[in-house]
Amino acid sequence: MLASATVTASSSPFPHPALPDRPPFALRARILTPTDAGATAFHRDGIVEVDSAGRIAWVGPAEFRPSAAGDREPVPALDLRPLVIMPGLVDLHAHLPQLPNAGLGAGLDLLTWLQRYIFPLERRFDDAAAAAELAPAAFRAFASVGTTTVLAYGAVFAASMEGAFRAAERHGIRAILGKVMMDRITYDEGIDRTTILDRSLRESEELCAKWHGADEGRLGYAVTPRFAVSCTADMLRESAALAARTGAWWQTHVSEDPGEIAEVARLFPEARDYVDVYDRAGGLGPRTVLAHAVHLSDRELARLVESGTNVAHCPASNLFLASGVMPLARYLEAGLAIGMGSDVAGGPDPSIFSAMRVGAYAQSARRTLLGESQPVLGPLDWIRLGTLDGARVLGLGDRIGSIEAGKEADLIAIDAGLTAPVRHADEALAGHLEGSGPHHHPGRTFDSADDPSDIASRLIFRPHPDMVRGAWVRGRRVEGPAGAG
Ligand code: GUN
Ligand code: ZN
Repeated sequence: MLASATVTASSSPFPHPALPDRPPFALRARILTPTDAGATAFHRDGIVEVDSAGRIAWVGPAEFRPSAAGDREPVPALDLRPLVIMPGLVDLHAHLPQLPNAGLGAGLDLLTWLQRYIFPLERRFDDAAAAAELAPAAFRAFASVGTTTVLAYGAVFAASMEGAFRAAERHGIRAILGKVMMDRITYDEGIDRTTILDRSLRESEELCAKWHGADEGRLGYAVTPRFAVSCTADMLRESAALAARTGAWWQTHVSEDPGEIAEVARLFPEARDYVDVYDRAGGLGPRTVLAHAVHLSDRELARLVESGTNVAHCPASNLFLASGVMPLARYLEAGLAIGMGSDVAGGPDPSIFSAMRVGAYAQSARRTLLGESQPVLGPLDWIRLGTLDGARVLGLGDRIGSIEAGKEADLIAIDAGLTAPVRHADEALAGHLEGSGPHHHPGRTFDSADDPSDIASRLIFRPHPDMVRGAWVRGRRVEGPAGAG
């Protein structure tokens, strides 16, 4: 059943059929994905087939689609061309309660920004009803920019976290969440300081027992000590032990800002450096995601690599708060496991495409200003960081992160036509530009560019707020994207 959509000035230049809400279905579109083997696959006229369990049953060029799978008739493919289907984006670092302050406090140093803009905001989440209202909107906001997996911090209040998990359960997004733990400085003014550590551990453990692995692993728990400035050595150690005992993730911030780093050195004089604070607590390892890691020494870098610890790269936040520019090429060369994070509201935008764009500009600036010799990443490298590499950081690379048979169907449908520069002029000029570019085809607009790197470049550098039209997790459509039409 195809509902044809009306084209309006603010929507897509192309009419699209209504998108399927649940599996099984098959989509015909341009398909762009990194592959497990390390390449990029691009099908100009491709089909992705999703089985009734929400797994990718087949993907490839439309002309090669098998006429029948086993004894089943193939599901008719819904023709979405020229939409682009990609794997859903993976956001490795975000703060759910902070979305209302997105874009506030640019250029403040981290510790001032936290005190002025963030702690007063998070304190409002002692009201579970307020939290319950915001959480569904936050998940819609993530999905609207193409994020289908998010690793996020909540606030310190257990009731607000319960509301956030329930909202994620209902929304359908893939979410790993954790109650923020703070026992050295906290914004919870009503808390009994003598029991703060025990209570935080108990509440985290209860939330973890209830939600870690829920809905066959779609939801997960991350034990979440905020950072070394707000946590005692006891809390860091006990929280790491809790994560190890339960198999949950462990997430915190590291080496984000010079003032923060100096404060950690003052609070933990026995530690060799910032990374060593977490190492001594037993916090390093493959289930750990450290946000930022902008200013690592060679020793810290080597220790993270050796221990298999992961990093969430949050360049939009790092420039918004003037924290610094990660030496990404040096880290990648050392073999550090890295994916992308929005860090909203440290980053002003929940979009991972936006984080990629700021990251690309920042790395170009490093190269020219510092004379670094490594080549900068191209658009397809950034797409990989924001999808498959992020999935691998979470240990989910065998399940999501790319569009390959056997994986779960976490997909997004994007209208790249909305990203064309000077859209109306582009359409009008299409007939006059024959031979003007390497991928130009006479009589077609730039939207028809059939080079995957050009398409990725447009999504990253010319984003449109409505370009993500649909998002699916395990083949189930989630709310947030602009929809077809
Ligand atoms: N370090 C500790 N807490 C935070 C936070 O909420 N945002 C950022 N960007 N850094 C932090
Ligand atoms: Zn953060």
